[in-house]
Amino acid sequence: LYLDLIIIVRKGIILAGGTGSRLNPITNSVSKQLLPVYNKPMIYYPLSTLMLAGIRDILIICNPKDKSLFQQLLLDGKQLGINISFEIQNEPNGIAQAFIIGEDFLEGNSATLILGDNLFYGNDLSDKLKKASEKERGATLFGFQVNDPGRYGVLEFSSDNIILNIEEKPIKPKSNYAVTGIYFYDCKVVEYAKSLKKSRRGEYEITDLNNIYLNNGSLTGEIFGRGSAWFDTGTYDSLLEASNFIYTLEKRQSLKIGIPEEVAWRKGWISNKDLKRLSKPLMNSSYGKYLFALSNENKI
Ligand code: TTP
Repeated sequence: LYLDLIIIVRKGIILAGGTGSRLNPITNSVSKQLLPVYNKPMIYYPLSTLMLAGIRDILIICNPKDKSLFQQLLLDGKQLGINISFEIQNEPNGIAQAFIIGEDFLEGNSATLILGDNLFYGNDLSDKLKKASEKERGATLFGFQVNDPGRYGVLEFSSDNIILNIEEKPIKPKSNYAVTGIYFYDCKVVEYAKSLKKSRRGEYEITDLNNIYLNNGSLTGEIFGRGSAWFDTGTYDSLLEASNFIYTLEKRQSLKIGIPEEVAWRKGWISNKDLKRLSKPLMNSSYGKYLFALSNENKI
């Protein structure tokens, strides 16, 4: 008797296309996700977040003109002990299109999607992400309390913390919990994404995809609490606020945030020697010096 043993791994997608029109004219010639958030390209933050969740196979989806720039920055990921591949989104047809574009990459595995302009920070972040990663069935979303929920997908919870409803940009939000830009799905996600119709604004909506899981009774809502921070960096002000936040934290403590090389090293995916080699061409910056100093440390 032979049993087919199929091992499902979790793969990651960073959605880094879009028009970035709220940041014009900055984004007239440069992808939003390549702009600096204080001292690093924006995409370093979502990339580090996926890596913290233990994900090592990552697809970056971007606009045609930006692919070579992202490749120049991130190579194929081997230097970080991960695998990075690239696909193109020709038009910004919506967030849920990521799973249609990513079908070949996913090969029937479960998927974590993170928006390329989302920045997460927090004490219990890694544990929460790992927990969501390990779930094989259903989907997990993360809510975060904001002052202006009407700009986002908004979660409505029952008294026992079950998600009752998700509304996209409601005029009268039922809670202050915005859906953040990190989403964990099981291997059904491609099939569900293919069943979506474009919305009135002409996009494949992530909220419609999440509602399929909700209606199946397989959607879990988690909360990033008081000890965490979430930014989407799509406007002048939020880009500056995110930069100031990173600046303040990094100034005050000797640790830096959102460094993919550091995550790879702490995970044991690259060695001290690898880290030292990566630091060498960057030694004129405090980024390079930071990597170099780490490479002489023992991991904690
Ligand atoms: P948005 O901020 O909603 O859109 P945008 O980046 O095009 O900016 P603007 O509204 O200012 O024109 O997108 C959220 C993230 O998802 C961002 O990182 C871009 C990405 N995205 C895509 O890659 N493809 C898409 O089709 C959409 C809608 C978003």
